[in-house]
Amino acid sequence: LADELIRLNKSSISVAEREAVDHVLRREYLGMGPKVEEFERLLRGYLNCPVAAVSSGTAALHLAIEACGIGPGDEVLIPTITYVASFQAVSATGATPVPVDINIGDLSISIDSCREKLSGRTKAVMPVHYAGGMKNLAEVLSFAADFDLRVIEDAAHAFGSKQNLPISAGERDIVCFSFDGIKNITCGEGGCIATHDLEILERVSDARLLGVISDTEKRFQSQRSWLPRVQFQGWRYHMSDVMAAIGCVQFERRGELFSRRKQLASLYIDQLGNASCGIKPLDLQWDSIVPHIFPCVVPSDISRDNLRENLQHSYGIQCGIHYYPNHYLEKYRSNVPLTAAEKVASSIISLPLHSDLDDADISYIVESVGDCLGK
Ligand SMILES: Cc1ncc(COP(=O)(O)O)c(C=O)c1O
Repeated sequence: LADELIRLNKSSISVAEREAVDHVLRREYLGMGPKVEEFERLLRGYLNCPVAAVSSGTAALHLAIEACGIGPGDEVLIPTITYVASFQAVSATGATPVPVDINIGDLSISIDSCREKLSGRTKAVMPVHYAGGMKNLAEVLSFAADFDLRVIEDAAHAFGSKQNLPISAGERDIVCFSFDGIKNITCGEGGCIATHDLEILERVSDARLLGVISDTEKRFQSQRSWLPRVQFQGWRYHMSDVMAAIGCVQFERRGELFSRRKQLASLYIDQLGNASCGIKPLDLQWDSIVPHIFPCVVPSDISRDNLRENLQHSYGIQCGIHYYPNHYLEKYRSNVPLTAAEKVASSIISLPLHSDLDDADISYIVESVGDCLGK
């Protein structure tokens, strides 16, 4: 029996992040200032795309949808298997998130289902880079082009994945990342909007600072707009220097953090294959993503919920479910069947994945799964 819990996910914090935060604390300017400017510069260079850093991935999605002029009466197509944040970001604008089915293999948004759900009110599609990527991104982009839809990509899981390096002008519309505590790199909480559409970028940059026009430039010089110009509803969604200080260090550590995640995923893939313990990794683009989670499929004759509880209580292994379909939730309930999503919903389980796991942890987890399933 494990003496301590193997956590499903966690941040990986070194002395460098502590020192960087301490440095900001000693300056006693904690809000949005030069550190956020530096973090944005790093992101812009890495993604080869203009960016605006914000307080969370949810805020990034909310601002991006709103900046497209999408609101009450409009519909946004969105895969039902995603974190509730994606749905909430749409409904926060007053628009309706329309739940769409997924492809069984990598749980990406199904284009066939998108076609079925398309209506005169559809204004955008929000594909999710589940676990770090999606195989059918090109098809999603071409479907959106055919119907003149905006594409707001929920890439909360996908910072560092090849598909997003670079984010090419003329190919992509808006891509939103999350830097919350458990993501591939973290700011504690945080997110960013990446787009080559400079009108959108300007709009979200102002909107994150309560709609105060051009407040960003002032903040980067640790100043304020004492005679503000405000023309539209904004939000208090900016990033702080404390968050950006963590983000800058995590960005510099990305090589180490990303390669560890990738190594751990390949250990899982090898050992789950050898152990033939029944559960199988999802069919993701493992070679080109930085995996944020490690989702597997449990065979239909095994109870996923019993397995998850048994792993936690008897073996000290915390597992997760990514995700419970959003069309099952009271707020977004729809009785129209989404058959693929409903099929995988009860059979997916995520094994622990974070960059501080040891090789021995992976062996222990795979053996414990086998043990639980009597293999
Ligand atoms: C798929 C997905 N979308 C959006 C978000 C929202 O990001 P944040 O937690 O930074 O608000 C998350 C975060 O967990 C996510 O997993």
